Amino acid sequence: MSDSATSGPGRDGAARETWATRVGFVLASVGSAVGLGNVWRFPFQTAENGGAAFLVVYVAAVLVIGLPALLAEYVVGRRANVDAIRAFSALGHRRFWFVGALGVAGAFWVLTYYSVIGGWVIRYAVDSLTGAYLAQPATYFETVSAGLPAVGFHAAFMLVTVVVVAVGIEDGIELATKLMVPAVVVLMVGLAAVAATLPGAGAGFEYFLTPDLTVVATNLGDILPAAVGQALFSLSLGFSVMITYASYLGQDDSLLVDGAAVATFNSLVGVLAGFVVFPLLFAQGVSPDTAGPGAVFISVPTALASVPGSLAGVRVGQVLGLVFFGIVLLAALSSSISLLEAVTSFVVDRAGTSATRPVVAAGLGTAAFLPGVLSALDTAWLSWFDAVAVNLLLPVAVLLVVGFVGWVLGRDAAAELAEGSGSLERLAPVWLWTLRTVVLVAVVGTVLLSVQSFLSGGVAPPL
Ligand code: TRP
Repeated sequence: MSDSATSGPGRDGAARETWATRVGFVLASVGSAVGLGNVWRFPFQTAENGGAAFLVVYVAAVLVIGLPALLAEYVVGRRANVDAIRAFSALGHRRFWFVGALGVAGAFWVLTYYSVIGGWVIRYAVDSLTGAYLAQPATYFETVSAGLPAVGFHAAFMLVTVVVVAVGIEDGIELATKLMVPAVVVLMVGLAAVAATLPGAGAGFEYFLTPDLTVVATNLGDILPAAVGQALFSLSLGFSVMITYASYLGQDDSLLVDGAAVATFNSLVGVLAGFVVFPLLFAQGVSPDTAGPGAVFISVPTALASVPGSLAGVRVGQVLGLVFFGIVLLAALSSSISLLEAVTSFVVDRAGTSATRPVVAAGLGTAAFLPGVLSALDTAWLSWFDAVAVNLLLPVAVLLVVGFVGWVLGRDAAAELAEGSGSLERLAPVWLWTLRTVVLVAVVGTVLLSVQSFLSGGVAPPL
């Protein structure tokens, strides 16, 4: 893997920041993709949708829809070399501007509640100092997940996100993700190892790894949209994040290799989270389908409580808890940064020199904080915001991008993908063909099923 130091003017002649290195781009993509979606959302979605059966459909969704769609966003971003809304005009298709607009709006929408969950993580990191969550993990989660303190932690998380984005893409984001990515993996492997030793853990492995295909068959209408939605959310698709990141990219990178690396790594972290959460829930005697959005916040403290020993009056479990929630915090931040970055980059590109990056980032962070207060006061609101994002906005946004790239950009898209791909360029036409057919049909099916499952879950916000 070679570094391509491509700083300097962008294609449109304007001086635009670019990634200092190719590794920087891949890490930032991974940083955006790996986040609460993997550690918080994946386990409880698995639990609510049939355990191992969900895992199978999810992996298929990543391969059939996720990776091709990720490449489609990379192609749009790198070819246009501007923010996600102007990208469509820059490619000569001005009337598709609304695709980018929907994406930027979606990124903003996700940020509002993502920051609330990020706030929970800050709280748990801080609580490691006292070990407050160790005694009664399930009750504890109930008490702290909603209410005024949760609003305060939501504010804290948003503030940190704003600061990193205000500093600018290279210093802020590249540094944060370089630290976070290896740390997440090492820690999760360690926790999975601890989990595996606990009595009762075996039932967790069985639950997670032994798919009951009759469950898939009888619940396909629910499992399919949930698994595809999880794959899209987890890869940060649809909401102009990957388009924005790829717009800072040079022409000599292999999008295919980078995309495949990002998709593989991202799924591995999700699966790893499963290896941590399920053995722990079973060891504790908590049924996974009752844990809901609290799954990771209930199961991990359970494991920590079982770790023996103490150092200078501090339980070893607390030290490990600080490390775990600290690292999940980094993962969450590198994703929330990407969400705010997509919206900020749009406003800054548009307003030119009249709007400075720090001011825009702060203004948008505040604007996203306010509706997020609802989710911080009541988890029913959080679930509603999440359902609108994942069941409505996300599949529609991905459908539009896939349709645009497949049928409007067409051959140009394949040419863009081929560029920098070396001997893999032969795959570009295959990708285009799949995008136009299999991927498109699968996404249309997902939209229909997702909207149906959203409607049946009750459309109305929980007023
Ligand atoms: N992928 C991130 C996660 O799994 C969340 C996220 C960041 C996201 N940017 C996004 C989701 C853009 C959808 C679109 O935590």
